Formats: sequence, structure tokens, C-alpha cells
Amino acid sequence: MILTESVSGYVERVRSAPDRLLAEMETHAQRDAIPVVVPATGQLLQVLALAVHARRALEVGTAIGVSTLYIARGLAPDGEVVSFEVDAERHATAGEYLERAGVGDRVDLRCKDARAGLLELEGKFDFAFLDGVKAEYGAYFEAVLPLLDDGAVLVIDNVLLSGSVAGPEDGGSERASMMRSFNERILHHPELTATLTPVGDGVIVAVRQ
Ligand SMILES: C[S@@+](CC[C@H](N)C(=O)[O-])C[C@H]1O[C@@H](n2cnc3c(N)ncnc32)[C@H](O)[C@@H]1O
Repeated sequence: MILTESVSGYVERVRSAPDRLLAEMETHAQRDAIPVVVPATGQLLQVLALAVHARRALEVGTAIGVSTLYIARGLAPDGEVVSFEVDAERHATAGEYLERAGVGDRVDLRCKDARAGLLELEGKFDFAFLDGVKAEYGAYFEAVLPLLDDGAVLVIDNVLLSGSVAGPEDGGSERASMMRSFNERILHHPELTATLTPVGDGVIVAVRQ
């Protein structure tokens, strides 16, 4: 999407093969046109969760649980990920897959609009992943920032919107313009050290300081 076809093909080929269940989930997502993280983004989530020894993670946008599984696999042994999904069918499917993956006891799946659900959470989190509706990113961020502990990692997907955000500053779609403003806000936020990486559809990785 963002990289040349040959580079993204290489990135795809060089990854370690997904286990059977993850491959089944990826096939399901593709068949039903459910947008899920590309493998490189999923692996980035797992590596980052491992790097910070994440114990309390949160996610906006479970879909059928692909990214939730990557995060769960990166958690510390007693860790847990709270994940929000508004679509009841996807929420239920994610629950089934994550049980089968053996991480059912590490996930707290909530069938709820994250904009309301995040406000009900208590205590601090050391890892967060935003991947819901792009127009709602600002609202998710407002609700998530106070929940992030010092040193917590915040990951945000699709910040390059298939490359459209790189269009002319004064042109392009409203969506691209909205995402440009959001990216600038995160990348220059006084409480974050952040970087935008061209992984998958563009991923911001930030640390709260
Ligand atoms: C891009 S998909 C998530 C993909 C998932 N993170 C993955 O990579 O496996 C976005 C999901 O967010 C859900 N969603 C949209 N608005 C939401 C909201 N306000 N709160 C929670 N989930 C929401 C959608 O139903 C959709 O399943």
C-alpha cells in the first residue's frame, strides 16, 4: 500500500509463517472483507508489548481478534488486554477465536462503543492500540491519554490512509486532511515522544513521558 509492491511483497514473504489459527483468522478476515492489521503491524504490536512487559493493555477495534491475539501473545504472563468492539457479531467471533488460541484468560472483550467504554476504565495502562473508526481517533485519543502510565506505549494504525495523507497540504479528501491534523497533534504532543513509521498502512508509535 505505502511501500512499492516489491518491497511489501518481500516484507510479507520474510515474516515467520503464521500458526494455523492465525492463518485461519487472516483467511476469514479476507473472505468477509473485515479490515485487520497486516502481519508486519501485528508483529510490531507483539514486539512492542513484549518490549515493555505489558501487563495492562487496551485496544479500540477488536474486529475478529487478529490484533488482539498479537497483543495477547506479547503480554507479560499475568497481563491482560481490554478490547472494545461495537459490532456484536465480530465481538462474539473474536471471543471464540481467542479461546481457541488459548488466550481467553488474557483478554477482556467488551461489546461497547470505545468512546463510552474508555471513560469507565480505572487505573493505568502500559500499552494501547487505536484501530477503530478513523474519524473517531481524536475522541479515542482524548479518552486514552489520561489512562496511560509513564512509559506506556501508544500505537495507532492507518495513519497514512493508503498514502492519501501525503497529498497536497491544501487539497485531498477531508479524511486525509483530518488524519494529517491528527498525526501532527500526536507527533508534536508535549506528553509524548512519537514516530510515524511506514509499516502496513502507516503506524504511529508513541511513548508517554
Ligand atoms: C480496522 S477494524 C479493527 C481491526 C483489528 N484491530 C485487527 O487488526 O484485527 C475496526 C473495528 O472497529 C470497530 N469500531 C468502530 N467504531 C468503534 C467504536 N466507537 N468503538 C469500538 N469499536 C469500534 C469496527 O466495528 C471494526 O470492527
